[in-house]
Amino acid sequence: MAILVTGGAGYIGSHTVLTLLERGDDVVVIDNLSNSSQKSLDRVAELTGKKPVVYIDNILNRDALKTIFSSHNITDVIHFAGLKSVSESIKEPLAYYENNVTGTQVLLNEMLASGVKHFIFSSSATVYGNPEKIPLSEQSRTGDCTNPYGTSKLMVEKILADFSRAQPQFRITCLRYFNPVGAHPSGRIGEDPGGIPNNLVPYISQVAIGKLGSVSVYGNDYPTPDGTGVRDYIHVMDLATGHLAALDSVDKGAAYKIINLGTGIGYSVINLIEAFEKASQKKISYTIVGRRPGDIAECWSDPSLARKELGWVATHSLDEMMRDTWNWQKNNPDGYKV
Ligand code: NAD
Ligand code: UFG
Repeated sequence: MAILVTGGAGYIGSHTVLTLLERGDDVVVIDNLSNSSQKSLDRVAELTGKKPVVYIDNILNRDALKTIFSSHNITDVIHFAGLKSVSESIKEPLAYYENNVTGTQVLLNEMLASGVKHFIFSSSATVYGNPEKIPLSEQSRTGDCTNPYGTSKLMVEKILADFSRAQPQFRITCLRYFNPVGAHPSGRIGEDPGGIPNNLVPYISQVAIGKLGSVSVYGNDYPTPDGTGVRDYIHVMDLATGHLAALDSVDKGAAYKIINLGTGIGYSVINLIEAFEKASQKKISYTIVGRRPGDIAECWSDPSLARKELGWVATHSLDEMMRDTWNWQKNNPDGYKV
């Protein structure tokens, strides 16, 4: 019995593969390394003493999937593979729909052909668009996504809902992640964005290490306590255990489930900068600039369904998130490039 992890060399995938191997699961990975390095999986092997089987290939390649499903006794699929840059998705919408939507359809077809029925999908809080009210529960309105990336996630959720009705033997869980940050406490694996980071925490950590000069804070005139944007940051190790809990609960409850993975706590950009200064003992220079188009004021989860359905709660504090991000950054100033 083995778990197929698509996108397993990536940021969240590598931490989840590590957690699966640590508890004794056999893991098969497919990743085309379009946004990752195989070194992440080498380091997972070094940390766990166990190796996943790795296929460097594209999920759009039906033959590769057929080979995997016929060569291994796959019981469950965790589907991380996809493109995730909001700004890139605006410039290259077709690449996003092909990878994220068509890629998922190809994968589901091959699962159907091979009789593999358990599917866990990486969705995102971005499907909620601009929230009418917070915290966001799974019942909150979705849609009005401001970019093709968000739309691609919502499209996959809707395809999965239809697919589940047509194939009731399938057990499907969509996990809507809030803002993943942090790294494995060893500092050996973590987030390695190519080029200049778009996301706040990798940006702050590159300012702390001296690779970037100053954080641009996108707006301090939002209706939030200090005027800067508020998000629900979640430690990547909590996300990893959330996937294990989803696997363990796959046969319980409804055949098609949507579940938030967040902490239920919102922190502002300024809160993050201050927490990072404390963790790194470095001064983080920042400048207030205009709002970033498409950003929302605040977004945090109601995490109660995850507790009820999966018996899972996030346990890491903001200080731990910043400590582990800094530990990864300072030990790997150039990520997986040496
Ligand atoms: P990541 O880019 O680090 O990992 C994705 C992995 O998928 C990469 O290793 C990439 O090489 C691989 N990949 C992409 N397209 C592929 C294809 N066609 N075939 C095979 N491999 C392919 O991203 P991540 O942060 O680990 O995110 C994992 C998933 O979670 C993504 O689907 C992302 O959209 C979703 N998600 C991420 C965030 C976030 O902020 N990190 C938030 C919500 C949801
Ligand atoms: N921010 C800055 N300066 C920066 C980067 C970000 O002030 O250089 C601010 C943003 O305005 C926002 C907050 O920091 O208020 C967080 O921004 P991120 O870019 O880190 O994250 P987002 O909430 O915009 O989006 C992230 C992912 C999406 C995902 C969403 C919800 O990038 O893919 O979380 O999961 F969909």
